[in-house]
Amino acid sequence: MVRPPVPALFGLLAAAVSSVNGAAECPSSAWIPFRSSCYIFLHGTLNDVAPFDDARDLCKDNASGADIISIKNREENTFIEETFENHWQAPDYILLGMFFDADDNTFKWFDKSEMKFTNWIEEESNEELLNTCASMNTKSGGWRKISCENLPLAGTLCKAAFAYEKTYLPDKTALTTTLVIVFTIVVTVSAALFWFLYKRSISSGALCITHHSTTEIPYSDETILIDEENEYTA
Ligand SMILES: *[C@@H]1O[C@H](CO)[C@@H](O)[C@H](O)[C@H]1NC(C)=O
Repeated sequence: MVRPPVPALFGLLAAAVSSVNGAAECPSSAWIPFRSSCYIFLHGTLNDVAPFDDARDLCKDNASGADIISIKNREENTFIEETFENHWQAPDYILLGMFFDADDNTFKWFDKSEMKFTNWIEEESNEELLNTCASMNTKSGGWRKISCENLPLAGTLCKAAFAYEKTYLPDKTALTTTLVIVFTIVVTVSAALFWFLYKRSISSGALCITHHSTTEIPYSDETILIDEENEYTA
């Protein structure tokens, strides 16, 4: 029977993919992992002259590649809200890492990720958004627009990608690496399989020849003779 070591190959592939993703490696144990990122709440008062610059510097100083918080979806928002409840001692409001861009009248995340999810708790109104910043209520997880002149400055929430030493690879690189690994495995398995079939066809060919030359030919001659007799009597 053909039994390529399929489970072993899948194991190898899984290990390769997870090392590309850098599974579960936060900058330090002070950071809390969730999905593909790590989070930390740093205590201390932000400089009120340039609070965002200060916050981003604090995040980056704790772990290179880290930045002030951005929130991509409901699950991440819920994770943050729950972690404030269970783990971080934080004020009621914290600063979200976004700014209002007057060029196209939208809010943008400082870390340049796309803003696909929002969790504003107030009705949208025709309020003046220039000089508007955003905060998160750490008890409810809701977002509120606030004046950039009057920000919550106690502490900063930072986010970093998993195992940034390795995973600061852009997504495309990870995908390419995975494809190369899969391709290599497929080629190796195919080559092994071809080799196996080739060897087997040689050895079974030899068996056929010896088989025919001994028993089968006389036997089949007899059968034909009997068949012919039957045909004539019928
Ligand atoms: C990052 O912050 C944590 C918690 O405040 C602290 O224990 C750790 O020493 C900091 N690490 C660096 C590299 O600044």
